Amino acid sequence: MSRSIRVELNWPQENTVIVGDRHFFAYDRSGAVHVIASRCAHRGGPLHLGRIEDGKLRCPWHGNTFRVDRLCARGVAVVQRGSKVIAYLPVTDPDADESPAVVHSIVLAE
Ligand code: FES
Repeated sequence: MSRSIRVELNWPQENTVIVGDRHFFAYDRSGAVHVIASRCAHRGGPLHLGRIEDGKLRCPWHGNTFRVDRLCARGVAVVQRGSKVIAYLPVTDPDADESPAVVHSIVLAE
């Protein structure tokens, strides 16, 4: 059985979560908030530092782009209640101390 870490965000002021050496970020797509791992499929670049251009997220490392409407397929479970976004982040190493999660406010550039 997989475990998860429950993290509550005050959306949209808080949109980035750091758990150990992993980053996750929240973004809005058509009024629904999604939370995904900030790890580029190419070489692991920090997608939360990328730019949104014409509906695509451009990775800051090598410039590959990913359609924003397809990023949610890589997302984690999310419950949204007004300005509260509750995300359930996967635990990758049950023996590692992955708490507490630290919430930052890093905003995707548009
Ligand atoms: S790591 Fe993202 S484009 Fe290379």
